[in-house]
Amino acid sequence: MSETIAFKPETLEKVKQIIARYPEGKQKSALIPVLHIAQKEFGGWLDVPVMDYVASVLEITPIEVYEVATFYTMFNMQPVGKYVLEVCVTGPCMLRGSDDIVNYIKEKLGIKAGETTADGLFTLKPAECLGACGYAPMMQLGKFYHENLTKEKVDEILELCRQGQIALD
Ligand code: FES
Repeated sequence: MSETIAFKPETLEKVKQIIARYPEGKQKSALIPVLHIAQKEFGGWLDVPVMDYVASVLEITPIEVYEVATFYTMFNMQPVGKYVLEVCVTGPCMLRGSDDIVNYIKEKLGIKAGETTADGLFTLKPAECLGACGYAPMMQLGKFYHENLTKEKVDEILELCRQGQIALD
């Protein structure tokens, strides 16, 4: 992490627009969207100095940022790979084989849940229900859902990632 943490000017402009949606003194309401932006801009995770910076931008205390950032699983508290494979492991997905999918990814990438491959490309992050139970088993990759997963589909997805051919947002 660089010593000076600051949003790019165009990002700061966007952040200010988000803050302006809320009444005076209620800028904390912008915290979650601003954390998403910070995570994207500062390497895919929220280091403490980044959270402190977000607190300063929103004029709130750092603890108010930490308590939100550490509560929601979409915020990463440690470095992650370029592609974060968020495989849903809640009941309906589990009944439709998410354990097999998770184990297949572990085996294929040589990592455990929560780990990142040595090349920094993939992180496996089991997730709770992502609201697409009817298409189980599924995973989220960036902003997109990949549904009705099979081992073959996982192979395709990983290959597309390696080729930089998969959309994240
Ligand atoms: Fe997997 Fe709901 S249980 S999306």
